[in-house]
Amino acid sequence: MKMTELFRRIAAPAAVVALVSVGIFATRPLSARAPFTPAQLADQEKKLLEVVNHGRDLWHGSRKDMSTNGLACGNCHPDAAASNPQTFPKYQNDMGQVVALRDMINWCITGPLAGKEIDPDGTDMIAMEAYATYLYRGTTITPGLATAQTAPIVAIKSGTGYPRKASGIGYDK
Ligand code: HEC
Repeated sequence: MKMTELFRRIAAPAAVVALVSVGIFATRPLSARAPFTPAQLADQEKKLLEVVNHGRDLWHGSRKDMSTNGLACGNCHPDAAASNPQTFPKYQNDMGQVVALRDMINWCITGPLAGKEIDPDGTDMIAMEAYATYLYRGTTITPGLATAQTAPIVAIKSGTGYPRKASGIGYDK
């Protein structure tokens, strides 16, 4: 291979990568950030709980295109029971592969709810995950193993969505 060809194939792209990297790192601080203040932490918690609350609404039927049969997530997973967010990613038999929590949420939307899949990267999906994960806070992360289900009872009801009523468990107190 001629030197000019070698340059075109290797040296030039490498130079571009190097220049871009310098550009990226130059804009980032190189030292650790200062610890968050109590006020900042409280604000972050407040913002998280707003998203968790939105997730609770979605989990109880607030988004109509997610269901065509009147069922909501809460009918079968009250207080996110048996959703086991701490076990993801894990192998899911039906899909024949290791999936993320959001894949399983969409699986239940299109399956049990006979609804329309939601954007896996959208804010609604983040809220659905936040709700389940928040209710399971403190649970040991055990990918692939459902060792810590919150409630073994699966209550299926028909109707226009699970009533938004506190059940006394977890965040829904
Ligand atoms: C009609 C009952 C029913 C409804 C309604 C329902 N699911 Fe499920 N869900 C199931 C069943 C059954 C499984 C177990 C499927 C499996 O593992 O093969 C499951 C599994 C899951 C899992 C994985 C649990 C685990 O341990 O692997 C998640 C997460 C989940 N559902 C979330 C949701 C969400 C979010 C909704 C609403 C969009 C929903 N489900 C609605 C019946 C339901």
